[in-house]
Amino acid sequence: MTKIENEHEIKILAIESSCDETAAAVVVNGRDMRSNVISSQIDLHTLYGGVVPELASRKHIEKINQVIAQALSDAHMTLDDMDAIAVTYGPGLVGALLVGVAEAKAISYARNLPLVGVHHIEGHISANYIENPELEPPFLCLVVSGGHTHLVKVTDYGKYEILGRTRDDAAGEAFDKVARAIGLGYPGGPKIEKVSHEGNPNAIVFPRAKVGDGVYDFSFSGLKSAVLNYLNGCNMKGETIHQADVAASFQQAVTDVLVGHAEHAIEEFGMNRFAIAGGVASNGVIRSAMAEMCERKGVGFYHPSPILCTDNAAMIGAAAYYDFIAGKRAGLDLNAVPNLKLGEA
Ligand code: KG4
Ligand code: ZN
Repeated sequence: MTKIENEHEIKILAIESSCDETAAAVVVNGRDMRSNVISSQIDLHTLYGGVVPELASRKHIEKINQVIAQALSDAHMTLDDMDAIAVTYGPGLVGALLVGVAEAKAISYARNLPLVGVHHIEGHISANYIENPELEPPFLCLVVSGGHTHLVKVTDYGKYEILGRTRDDAAGEAFDKVARAIGLGYPGGPKIEKVSHEGNPNAIVFPRAKVGDGVYDFSFSGLKSAVLNYLNGCNMKGETIHQADVAASFQQAVTDVLVGHAEHAIEEFGMNRFAIAGGVASNGVIRSAMAEMCERKGVGFYHPSPILCTDNAAMIGAAAYYDFIAGKRAGLDLNAVPNLKLGEA
């Protein structure tokens, strides 16, 4: 292809290392994913029942160059073809974030390429752009991951209004904690979903928490405690715990709250597009319930494929493109910001 034919293409190498996945991807014009390499650390952290931050950082250092080389090679490109380097700089584990940020800055400096710093949640939301070419703001998005539960109005590319967030545990965190309590281990979400297929979602009535002074806020710690109390009660009475019923009933309680909040927001804001994002959005039961509600409301429903719901770098490349064309650039003083708030970038 000649240089002229290529000119309208913005090719971004994106890097993600905020938690326990070392990931790199090449994304063209924000929506055309040319590669998406993810090195998961799940096996390493499973030994400890959860993510060990220091081990995560070390593993990122070990893997990052390999993962980037693979992403370029899968895309049949080299660094010479890139127009920019994008990297997640928060929120996340500080040591883990620093590995990606240092790597991105080094490449940016060595190759004289513009650097774009991306908010991890913006990345999750933008994962929806990759497989839905027709999706454009404004739309509502529910971000449900291991660290975050946000109901967001995406008013424009890179512009967000937070309608609600969790007051305590994130939805994914609740999945992980309940999975541990019923002996399923880490990571909890996929394990609860798998076992729930053998259970009855109406077997046990767990609470659907409402937050009095914030209609769109969430609270999952009460639900988690209700599950723990139920398990304790069974143990004290010598009753057998039906793991699949507990999993299915817990999952149903989370689903009802998420769908209820989403439906309420769709009604209040009169939006005709609704998207979900984040690791928990890969849950089949939650996806079907959202799809059914959106169909009933006559609203378009958008969701990434499961592999683009959990942490990946393609979503970072998608978000970075819209920042890049808006002229946003990071300097070589870019630092990891573990508590970065959405909209603060
Ligand atoms: O988005 P993500 O990969 O990382 C964060 O940014 O937090 O989300 C990870 C979370 C974990 O809590 C995991 O248990 C949850 O997403 N998760 C699921 C499923 N797959 C992953 N939760 C429910 N059902 C699933 N199928
Ligand atoms: Zn994430």
